[in-house]
Amino acid sequence: MLRYALFTIWITIFILGVSPVYGGPGKEMFAQKCLNCHINSEETEVVNPVDKASMQWRRFFKRHKHNRFKDISELLTPEDKQQILEYLVDHASDSDQPEIAGVR
Ligand code: HEC
Repeated sequence: MLRYALFTIWITIFILGVSPVYGGPGKEMFAQKCLNCHINSEETEVVNPVDKASMQWRRFFKRHKHNRFKDISELLTPEDKQQILEYLVDHASDSDQPEIAGVR
């Protein structure tokens, strides 16, 4: 019984503790698809969710604004984009958890 209780507590802590840290699939996707370029390329600088407010991120994606700087439409499926946008909005400058992902 005690073992069961401890197990439940442990699982709860695990879920509560881990999910905000990893921030879901969007964070991985952001690191892979966006930061890869934004950290490693000479052409540009690091991008972070806090760089924009949630509305600005939505507009940025909806209007395909990135293509004005660089055409990345080939690199992202609509699902990738959706996941990344969710992550950016969740951690935007006006969110509860503003985040700097690519600290450098
Ligand atoms: C192939 C390389 C590449 C990839 C991939 C890429 N970017 Fe960029 N990005 C650039 C370049 C080049 C610029 C223009 C130079 C600059 O402003 O830093 C830019 C500019 C930007 C800007 C600045 C626009 C502004 O408002 O001033 C933002 C924000 C941005 N990218 C976000 C992203 C996001 C989010 C992703 C992932 C969905 C992404 N980028 C993927 C190369 C890339």
